[in-house]
Amino acid sequence: MRKKLVAGNWKMNGSKAMVESLLKTLLAGAGDSDSVEVAVFPPFPYLQRTQKLLRGSSIAWGGQTLNPASSGAFTGEVSAAMLLDFGCRYVLVGHSERRTLYGEKDADVATRFEAAQLAGLEPILCVGETLDERERGETESVVRRQIDAVLERCGIDSLSSAILAYEPVWAIGTGKTATPDQAQQVHAFIRDKIRAQDDTIGGQIRILYGGSVNGSNAADLFTREDVDGGLIGGASLKAGEFLAIRNAASRG
Ligand code: PGA
Repeated sequence: MRKKLVAGNWKMNGSKAMVESLLKTLLAGAGDSDSVEVAVFPPFPYLQRTQKLLRGSSIAWGGQTLNPASSGAFTGEVSAAMLLDFGCRYVLVGHSERRTLYGEKDADVATRFEAAQLAGLEPILCVGETLDERERGETESVVRRQIDAVLERCGIDSLSSAILAYEPVWAIGTGKTATPDQAQQVHAFIRDKIRAQDDTIGGQIRILYGGSVNGSNAADLFTREDVDGGLIGGASLKAGEFLAIRNAASRG
């Protein structure tokens, strides 16, 4: 039985006041549950406050990216050890905005994934195709290539302490979510691919769906066999909406 995960990627949004009120509302609304786990991914400056507010609660938190180096002359960057210093359990790697806006290639993503795991963070590896790639029928080959880059560097066993997120680029922030069938199809492809290398790891790994998930469409997505929760952008900034998604996951 895979425990669902509802993860809120705040991206570059928020303020001290917003962090305070959003997290307090989540704490009040997201009680312990055997069937769903909640995590938030605030911008770096708010990790300290997040740790203070969430420590000891059932809500986990993580970084939105990391630099693979352990320290040094990398202006503006943040290391895995720094994220751990602020109690992070998770870190996103290879989010499509990192790939497209900041030029992270598959090999860069694999390096970050490896650095996160070596330091003791659990990476959430984001994969997904663009609209052009989908229309050309390349969805599976793109997702396969993105996952293989990590497998080549880190091996199949690395997926026993990692999470995958399928996020079609055309669905991120566009209001155009994948249909539950479209999501399930790609999730099943990913799980089968991993199962072919290791049946146990393939059966256990959580595969989240991301891309315009909201309180209204979450329930249908989460009832699909291979959808183990969601990576939520815009809707994670509104406590009511995010809690509705969390509640959909606890039923799904
Ligand atoms: P969205 O973003 O929910 O705003 O589409 C998802 C993501 O980028 O993780």
